[in-house]
Parts: sequence; C-alpha cells; structure tokens
Amino acid sequence: MSYVTSEVKNQCLTIMIDRVDKKNALTRDMYQAMADAIFAVKDDTATKVIVLKGAGDCFTAGNDISDFAEQKDNAHVPETAAFMRALAECKVPVIAQVHGVAVGIGTTLLLHCDFVYATPDTKFVLPFINLGLVPEYASSYLLPKISGHIKAAEWLMLGEPFSAQDAYQFGLLTKVVEQQEIDNTVASTIKKLVEKPTFSLMQTKALLKGDDERITLQMNEEFDIFLEALGTPAAQEAFDAFLNKRPINPEKFK
Ligand code: COA
Repeated sequence: MSYVTSEVKNQCLTIMIDRVDKKNALTRDMYQAMADAIFAVKDDTATKVIVLKGAGDCFTAGNDISDFAEQKDNAHVPETAAFMRALAECKVPVIAQVHGVAVGIGTTLLLHCDFVYATPDTKFVLPFINLGLVPEYASSYLLPKISGHIKAAEWLMLGEPFSAQDAYQFGLLTKVVEQQEIDNTVASTIKKLVEKPTFSLMQTKALLKGDDERITLQMNEEFDIFLEALGTPAAQEAFDAFLNKRPINPEKFK
C-alpha cells in the first residue's frame, strides 16, 4: 500500500502524505515516493507549483521512529536524503499546507518551502534533542537565519512544541489560516502562481535561493553528526522508550 499520493492538476502537483493511523509518520518508501514525484517535475510549464499536505488530522509526526531505531546498523538512508535534496533544489515554488502537528522533519522541511500556511491549532516541534539526535537538513543554518539565534536555540535545545502564532511571529509561516479557510487560501495562491510567467517565476525562486552551496555544506556536516548520534546509547534509549510506550530512563539518557 502506498502512503503517499501525487496528482498533477491545473499545473499543480499535489503530494499528499496519507498514513493516517500512524499520524503520517514517514517511512523510507514514503520519502522515495515524494522524491520521485518532485524529481518528475520538469523545467517546463506542465507543473508550475507543488503543494505538500497531510491527510487526516495532521501534517506529519516526522520520521518513523522504528526506522530510526534500525538505522544505527544501516546508517545510509538514501530515500530521506533524496526527498530533502529534491525539495531543497526544486525549481518551482513549493507550498506547504499544515495542520495538527508538524514534528521533526515535518517542521524542518518547511524551511525549504516558499509558502507555508498553517491552521491556528497546529503544533510544531523539533524534538531531536529529546531523542538524543541533532538538527538535520540545514535547519541548524536556516532556522537561525530565519528566526534568529535565540529562537532557534530555544526550539532546538529544548525541543518543546511551539504554536502556529509563534511560528508565524518568527518567520516560519506565510499566514495562519482557519481550518475551514485553508483549502481556499492555498487554492488562491496556486492560481496566482500558475498565472505568472514561467521564466520569471522560476528565476525569481532561483535568485531567492542563492545560497545552495552553503545549504549543501551544512546538510553534509549535520548528516555525519546525525549518524553518529543515532548510534549513541541516549538515542537508542529514546527510540526504545517511544516504541515501548514507556518513559525515558534518565540514567540511560546522558
Ligand atoms: N514513528 C512511528 N510511529 C509513530 C510516530 C512516529 N514518528 N508518531 C506516531 N506514531 C504512531 C504511534 O506509535 C501510534 O501507533 P499505535 O496506534 O500503533 O500505537 C500512532 O502513530 C498514533 O500516535 P499517538 O502517539 O497515539 O497519537 P497522539 O495523537 O497521542 O500523539 C504525536 C501524536 C505526533 C504527538 C505523537 O505520536 C508523537 O510524539 N510521535 C513521535 C513524534 C517524533 O518524535 N517523531 C520523530 C521526529 S524526529
């Protein structure tokens, strides 16, 4: 069964994360499906916008923790990297439509989008530190750049959830939109973008994303440290605690 659907309609590719019973937690196959859908977008007018959204009651609970738990013995996970690189290097504008929760990579990926709309009740969280992990996919570079060091430190060093209002105030969101309005708001932005001349649209995005090299360097640096973190006793304790629905043992989380 595929937990990601993608559809091109009226020059817009919509990617829907649809693994509702697991809060849209992302597995390797799901990352690959999203990467494939984005890579299939060609430099022409067939697709001028991408929308990323989640089915059910949330955007995504982030990386599947069972995958994390297995990863220490098989550190290279090309599917996640393929998706994040596809997103970071995507030539057309990307809109994220967010509701419920956006955990871990679910918040990290927003830093690589061009428009982010979220409902007022959305909770964002970058819980890496509470899993014995570190930031990933250039968030340790992009977040301070967007929100300032002080906010980035709070979000990344405490790993506590923050509200849509906070996310908006510190530059992560285009707008906070009521649940009943969000489809219309996103549809309106899609329509406006599709009506723009393709060359200008893509070049404007390319000019705005001028620091690709820095982003790649940061991703590589984070990647090495992330893989090291995955194998630590603290991370293994955090994964085991989540998967067995028990509290973390502080003695093993140092
Ligand atoms: N990986 C694997 N399974 C996950 C998951 C994840 N990231 N997030 C949720 N699930 C599963 C739960 O284990 C549960 O499975 P079960 O029904 O077989 O027991 C199911 O999804 C529903 O989740 P539940 O925790 O019961 O829902 P909730 O509404 O109480 O809480 C969250 C939702 C997202 C707050 C909570 O599930 C959570 O904190 N998930 C972990 C998020 C995380 O740390 N992700 C990694 C980021 S780096």
